[in-house]
Amino acid sequence: MNSKSITDSIREKLDIVDVVKDYIPNLRQAGRNHKACCPFHNEKTPSFTVSQDKQIFYCFGCNEGGDMFTFVMKMEGLTFVETLKKLSLKAGLQWQETEYHLSEKDRERLAIKKVLAAAEEFYKKLLFSSNGEKARLYLGGRKLSKATVERFAVGFAPPGEPALLQELQRKGFSKELAVKAGLAALRNSGQVTDYFRNRVMFPIKNAAGETTAFGGRALDESQPPKYLNSSETPLFAKRRTLYGIYEALPQIRKTGRLLVLEGYMDVLTAHQHGITFAVAGLGTALSAEHAAFIKRHSRDTILMFDADEAGINASIRASDIFMEAGMYVKVADLGEELDPDEYLNEYGVEAFEKKLLAAADPLEFRISALLKKSPGPLASQDKAKLIELLLDTVARQTDEILKSEWIKTLSARFDVTQEAVLRQLSKKSVAAGKESRGAGNEPPPAAALPEIPAIELGFIHLILKDPGLIACAGELAEEDFQSPFSKKIFSAVQDGTGLEPAKATPGLLALFPESAGLIMKLSVAEISSDMNPEQNAAKAAAMIRKLSLERKWKSLKTRLGALEPAEIAEFRRLTGVLKSTAKKGTD
Ligand code: UTP
Ligand code: MN
Repeated sequence: MNSKSITDSIREKLDIVDVVKDYIPNLRQAGRNHKACCPFHNEKTPSFTVSQDKQIFYCFGCNEGGDMFTFVMKMEGLTFVETLKKLSLKAGLQWQETEYHLSEKDRERLAIKKVLAAAEEFYKKLLFSSNGEKARLYLGGRKLSKATVERFAVGFAPPGEPALLQELQRKGFSKELAVKAGLAALRNSGQVTDYFRNRVMFPIKNAAGETTAFGGRALDESQPPKYLNSSETPLFAKRRTLYGIYEALPQIRKTGRLLVLEGYMDVLTAHQHGITFAVAGLGTALSAEHAAFIKRHSRDTILMFDADEAGINASIRASDIFMEAGMYVKVADLGEELDPDEYLNEYGVEAFEKKLLAAADPLEFRISALLKKSPGPLASQDKAKLIELLLDTVARQTDEILKSEWIKTLSARFDVTQEAVLRQLSKKSVAAGKESRGAGNEPPPAAALPEIPAIELGFIHLILKDPGLIACAGELAEEDFQSPFSKKIFSAVQDGTGLEPAKATPGLLALFPESAGLIMKLSVAEISSDMNPEQNAAKAAAMIRKLSLERKWKSLKTRLGALEPAEIAEFRRLTGVLKSTAKKGTD
């Protein structure tokens, strides 16, 4: 079987709605389409749309779109071939490992995965070699067991000569690939050498368990930075990655619980103590992408960062982002200047679980953090300033019930009237709305449409929804359209690129990848007209034709004195036609 026929067989057996539902269980029917909040960007009202007729998806908020294959590729970060394999299993088809044709990009991603896997093996081997003694002692000092170290595939990058690069080259990997994978770096001297040296190495895995990057912790305090991550590659972006997600996902799926900690050590220690639903960011603030991912997997999310000032601020920023994504999130406070890993080792898992149970909602957390900084009775102005800060958090709450609870809380805690809090909040909400858009939390604006006359766009919309309507085009011809987009879609549908609705759009996408966004958008967008589609199409076609004839007529008229005899005849003919259509139009 070649890859062409396997995609067809998968399409026959699977429906895009079922494939999407595996990832987004609350996909709901809405008119002819299905809708949900978009998994690819943060939003509160659903603009992610799946068309069963066309077997495609499209998000009107962020313009992501495609068929079931692109959907799975994007959701899971898989290559096309990996996606084929996954979906053919779901479809109950035989999968044969054969040499499928890979795109250049897929080939690169696969090569990077292979070299990362080889590096992981090498680092692991080194940790347990005689060279790895110092690293093993360090891990022991942080109370990590051998089982935990093995479970997370922790390794060691040796100091000195570029040992990894030598090993990789021995295995037939090129220097260029090692650089592309973030394992080696080009030094100023022009020499390529190992990127990680004398570090404890933590492989960073995607949700499917594939290593996509590394984090390395310095063994020598005199060797900054303390933590170093692979640079961003086609497989790795910090803003989309959660450390420990592969190991934690089974438990998260089972319980709906997810705990976000600060670092590698925290995650390892948590898992070692049976808190197996713990993950961590990668030393950067949690992003809207993180929130969107977590929203899909967890009902009950708790943040627990280090108890220092930086940790408190990170908790506040992260809970803002989660709230803006329409999620419930709580913040746990260890109450002592200890990192979660230190706390677990000091007080054990039961005390830790108690802290999780006592996690506060973001407003409570922020109130305690602020009051800790200014203990004692509050002067009126200090009170007003504190409430002003806290209203930042309230303004971001999208759940109106919770919001009104929070207003009550503020009023009670600071002994002011609810009306005053509300009035102050209403000033805030406007400003917060502006600010959050400025900060890029809202979906990017839909890509500007190329210049296409509205009437042409309307007609193309109709035939993309139902290619059969091309039969209502009458005398309309390709040349009557002004925009190149309308011209090519019209002529392709007329040539019969497949008049079956389920095949037309994929066919057009393959023909015109440069216009994919617009084709998908129009194919799934509902038509806002009560007219019956045939009448609607016929009327639009007649109008486009008429406008085209008028343009021709005008251009002839401006050169009236200089026309060839044939052109004069054409001018007369057009004058007649336009007169008669004008009459018909007023009937
Ligand atoms: P810190 O620099 O606060 O580490 O970064 P720490 O908790 O003091 O480190 P230990 O406990 O002494 O080892 C917090 C966490 O952020 C991640 C690391 O996981 C680190 O533990 N981090 C930080 C990165 O992944 N990349 C970075 O560049 C920085
Ligand atoms: Mn720490």
